[in-house]
Amino acid sequence: MKKPRVQLTRVAVLISGRGSNLLALIHAIEGGEVPAEIVLVISNRAEAGGLAHAQSRAIPTLVADRSRYPKRVARQERIHAALMAADVDLVVCAGFDEILRPEIVADFSGRMLNVHPSLLPAFGQTLLAQVEALAYGVKVSGCTVHLVTDDLDAGPIVVQRVVPVLEDDTVESLSARIVAEEHKALPEAVRLWAEGRVVLEGRRVRVREA
Ligand code: GRF
Repeated sequence: MKKPRVQLTRVAVLISGRGSNLLALIHAIEGGEVPAEIVLVISNRAEAGGLAHAQSRAIPTLVADRSRYPKRVARQERIHAALMAADVDLVVCAGFDEILRPEIVADFSGRMLNVHPSLLPAFGQTLLAQVEALAYGVKVSGCTVHLVTDDLDAGPIVVQRVVPVLEDDTVESLSARIVAEEHKALPEAVRLWAEGRVVLEGRRVRVREA
């Protein structure tokens, strides 16, 4: 008898930079850990290193950057249209440095994840979370994967992972420790979502038993 085909979650990943989280997700999918396929990678920067990870695997890419679309609205309309055309189930913001328009957030309500390099709600709404955590003097930090809502960095939390802040840490060493945990947290969150185990209760996510 033929094995029933598993329905793979169609994922789009939004990036702005080196794309190490994208690569971690690609590896987890290739390793069979996440029942998903990346159908589109979108960057708002043409020079984003992460685009190469997609291109080397023949994953379609779209660059919607400031030179092509100087106006944020037009740029994001292009991104929105691409997400709809690709029939995406889940959008993953992996180091994407623009705040998405409410129209996009609404269309993907409960279907959009973001990874942030701090233990939210601490050090949210900043691109310098690790700098601020170090300067504040916290003894632990980490990363958060959350559902995206219109409240920046304040959506329901799906996965968090903790790291220590060490006495001799620099921004670089702390960031490296945190991003290593992002590379576990993000694939885990995508897996839970793809398995239909992310259940929203008010603003809390309850992870349903497998
Ligand atoms: C990550 O630390 C992410 O949390 C932050 O930007 C960084 C992106 O890294 N928003 P990468 O592009 O995935 O390597």
